[in-house]
Amino acid sequence: MLDIIQAEDRHTSGLYTKQPLVIVRGQGASLWDINGREYLDCNSGHGVANLGHAHPKVAAAIAAQAATLITLFESFYNDKRAALMEKVGGLVPGLDRVFFCNSGTEAVEAAIKFGRLSTGRTEILAAKRAFHGRTLGALSATFNKKYREAFEPLVPGFQHVSYNDIPALEAAVTERTAAVILEALQGEGGVYPADPAYLQAARRICSERGALLILDEVQSGFCRTGKLFAFQYSGITPDLLCVAKSLAGGLPMGAVLIGPAVQNLTPGVHGSTFGGNPLACAAALAALQVMEEEKLADQAAAKGDYLMKKIQGISSPLVREVRGLGLMVGIELRQKAAPYLAALQDQGILALNAGITVIRLLPPLVITYEQLDHLAATLAEVLSKEIKDE
Ligand SMILES: Cc1ncc(COP(=O)(O)O)c(C=O)c1O
Repeated sequence: MLDIIQAEDRHTSGLYTKQPLVIVRGQGASLWDINGREYLDCNSGHGVANLGHAHPKVAAAIAAQAATLITLFESFYNDKRAALMEKVGGLVPGLDRVFFCNSGTEAVEAAIKFGRLSTGRTEILAAKRAFHGRTLGALSATFNKKYREAFEPLVPGFQHVSYNDIPALEAAVTERTAAVILEALQGEGGVYPADPAYLQAARRICSERGALLILDEVQSGFCRTGKLFAFQYSGITPDLLCVAKSLAGGLPMGAVLIGPAVQNLTPGVHGSTFGGNPLACAAALAALQVMEEEKLADQAAAKGDYLMKKIQGISSPLVREVRGLGLMVGIELRQKAAPYLAALQDQGILALNAGITVIRLLPPLVITYEQLDHLAATLAEVLSKEIKDE
């Protein structure tokens, strides 16, 4: 085990804060370290493993496609890509064109470019606390100084307004605004769901002023919040929808779903070498089928309610607020989350933070009720006493 840690430490870029755990296997909502200790995964690879780890249907689809055809540029047609385009293009009425890429930041990057291309305008409005990715365009839409500062000057034309603040949006969208980009539920920024009225207002304001509405559901998408997409709680349709994370059951894949108002997408203006490769497409086809067969959105809604009630029942002076939708849950503490995350890890639960004071829970949606009970009991125990931050 030490050999493994030393090898990574010797060669790491240095960009990641590492836990001294060597995780080698997963099944459902469980992970195992190299010594055979089981952990309950409430991190899901930062929200990727919605279907759970090692889902047999996804594994079988990947294995079969790997032995058939892994790569093919989108300048040629392919059976798996065609099937996935039909599937993804039918997920949201009106968003029937699809651009495939490989990550969330690439989906956001593409949507920003499409927004500029389509409107001929340059300004992009994003929200305070937003996280949209780390490539320079997406980073310009991201709010937190911690991610931005070292890379300034970023792309010009980006502005941030308060989230869930309709008057601020009314005041900021002008005839120069190409697009408004919003998370339907802010994840990294602290787990803040959008008010349905806010998204409805954003839709109206964009339509009235000729700007496009981009929704980023990279983290909240694919059943996590109890619906296929979190924006569906508000009954609107965006012009561009960015997705990634769990789309291909764990393989890297991103996509932008594109509505009729988006124009000027002509050959060569954007593209991706790996985007829409048959391997990722086969994995995504299997993953989407599993989401339907196992009714993962319904599962997330029911289990999210169950977990939320249990967490709200924890009476701890350390807890300021519990927020979320479905199985995307944030527990805001009155102090730093890090020591409590470490205590959870000691007890065999892997969770993550969202900002400094929020414990974020993103378990696989196949987590069992028994595992939820264990999670809630362990949270109650860890939050029962103050842990000093060293
Ligand atoms: C809402 C949102 N958008 C974009 C991204 C960037 O995705 P990726 O890390 O796949 O580039 C993330 C990543 O956490 C995210 O949560």
